[in-house]
Amino acid sequence: MQSKNKTINAAITAVGMYVPDKVMDNKYFESIVDTNDEWIITRTGIKERRLMENGATSDMAAFAIQDLMKTSSLKPEEIDVIIVATVTPDMLFPATACLVQEKIGAKNAWGFDLSAACSGFLFALQTGASLVESGSYKKVVVVGSDKMSAITDYTDRNTCILFGDAASAVLLEPSEDLNYGIKDSLLYVDGSGRDALNMKAGGSLNPASHDTIDKKWHYIYQDGKAVFKVAVKGMADVSYEIMEKNGLKSEDVAYLVPHQANLRIIDATAERMGISKEKVMINIDKYGNTTAATIPLCLTEYYRAGKVKKGDNLILAAFGAGYTWGSIYLTWGLD
Ligand code: UT7
Repeated sequence: MQSKNKTINAAITAVGMYVPDKVMDNKYFESIVDTNDEWIITRTGIKERRLMENGATSDMAAFAIQDLMKTSSLKPEEIDVIIVATVTPDMLFPATACLVQEKIGAKNAWGFDLSAACSGFLFALQTGASLVESGSYKKVVVVGSDKMSAITDYTDRNTCILFGDAASAVLLEPSEDLNYGIKDSLLYVDGSGRDALNMKAGGSLNPASHDTIDKKWHYIYQDGKAVFKVAVKGMADVSYEIMEKNGLKSEDVAYLVPHQANLRIIDATAERMGISKEKVMINIDKYGNTTAATIPLCLTEYYRAGKVKKGDNLILAAFGAGYTWGSIYLTWGLD
């Protein structure tokens, strides 16, 4: 929601990322399931993904925030809030945010985890922005971190080729110049999507047991075709809607920053927005679907490559399990 009487915007003032070294390319998947490089590339756009061999989601999140701190003036003790968007928390509790706090030495911070699957970063960014805009907090770190390999069944060709491990973080700070920062959001949930994409076991509905293990309920389940249909429509519609709501024409948008689940979903979204391919941030080929990490990973890589300039209008868009989906409109404020 856009507030009418805002006096400050929340703006992204630093970025950071972490991807594990270990690469799993399509050839590797040819050796473990009945698939092939050509199918994977044409159906998804993915060539490689990363695997976190030693360590958990909190380690990747901590590395991403440490990278952010290395490339900015932020000190750990200055951080007010840490929001970790993830569906692969280290444990159900305590929150991964607590573990990250300790690992980076953010001794004055509070924080929490936010579970919205592939839309997690967008939901966390809007939440963080609201905390900044309230005037109560000045330095909010939003990190998307997912160790998808921890919940992936590497015998299921329908899902195992899709996902990878990564983390990426942004720092939100107040901007009195309302030309910059997060300007609007449209976010949605629809629980009728629960059967199409989920991990059934380990929660209060189906506590972990021998039976849930036998049924492989501790892994991602996805009805790919069903999710594909609603994702194409959901992500394209919401991105178009936020442009219309804010009077933005395609030439006013410097980049679409889409969740990286499938290149065909991304292409359909760009087409609906009337945006050419050069104005779409893409790194799905290198990392696959890293769930909450995809969007900040794109932002970090494109910014560091000098491709995003101060004053650029960006439309962030995602669709994920829940269903959850949405779009955020922001103007880049970093030099
Ligand atoms: O990020 C959160 C939200 N998630 C998404 O947005 C994902 C949405 N879904 C998708 O991206 C796509 O549905 C997939 C990439 C998961 C699958 O692509 P698809 O074009 O929808 O394929 P499909 O599931 O309809 O399968 C087509 C065929 C099937 O064979 P038959 O039944 O036609 O003989 C599958 O068994 O492709 C087969 N198939 C594979 N073949 C080779 C499925 N997975 C593979 C594979 N390699 N890895």
